[in-house]
Amino acid sequence: MTKYSRAQAVLHWAVFLLIVQQFVFHEAIVEAFGAFMKGQEFAFSPLIAAHVFGGILVGIFAVARLWLRKSRGVPEELPAPAAQRLVAKIIHIGLYVLLIAMPVSGAVAWFGGVGAAAGAHEIMKAIMLTFVGLHIVGAIYHQVVLKDGIMARMSMRG
Ligand code: HEM
Ligand code: HEM
Repeated sequence: MTKYSRAQAVLHWAVFLLIVQQFVFHEAIVEAFGAFMKGQEFAFSPLIAAHVFGGILVGIFAVARLWLRKSRGVPEELPAPAAQRLVAKIIHIGLYVLLIAMPVSGAVAWFGGVGAAAGAHEIMKAIMLTFVGLHIVGAIYHQVVLKDGIMARMSMRG
């Protein structure tokens, strides 16, 4: 097996787009949550719904990806020094944890009105930005410097 399946790739890129959306459109839910915690009124808006449902979809897709990893498997690791492979592995595990813990903490904050969960959500936001940044640097390093065709492994074509 030399590449991820089409379903695995479609889910990877769908999650990427959804995460971008979660980061770009967070203002509305931050304002609404602030108002809610102060006992003030707030108007429900499509941007709030986009954050809530987009985030829940990320969690569902992450579980589907983990299930596909188990049932279908993943391509063999690319050849690289052991330390580099370990770093990639830690980042992948970290990303999966965040793809589930972000929606869970968000949902507990939003549906349960739990301030501490919102705090955790915000801390995880920073960790996620760091991990995604490192992940992208790694992908570019493979593609441009090592020229090992890593991007083709996550291609949605067949
Ligand atoms: C929100 C953003 C992203 C998240 C959460 C994410 C997450 C992940 C995860 C968890 C894996 C491991 C898949 C597995 O083995 O089960 C993976 C693989 C991969 N990602 Fe991302 N990713 C993101 C964005 C990107 C971007 C922007 C690129 C390209 C610049 C990229 C390129 C890749 C590639 C090429 C692989 C396959 C690695 C390999 O063949 O070993 N990802 N991604
Ligand atoms: C992967 C999924 C998610 C990502 C990446 C994400 C990302 C974010 C970001 C970047 C913020 C702004 C934090 C700040 O700087 O103040 C935020 C706030 C918030 N999100 Fe999410 N979110 C996700 C899922 C969810 C879900 C599913 C819900 C609810 C069901 C949710 C509820 C909230 C709430 C209530 C806030 C406001 C918290 C506060 O102001 O303290 N999020 N989210």
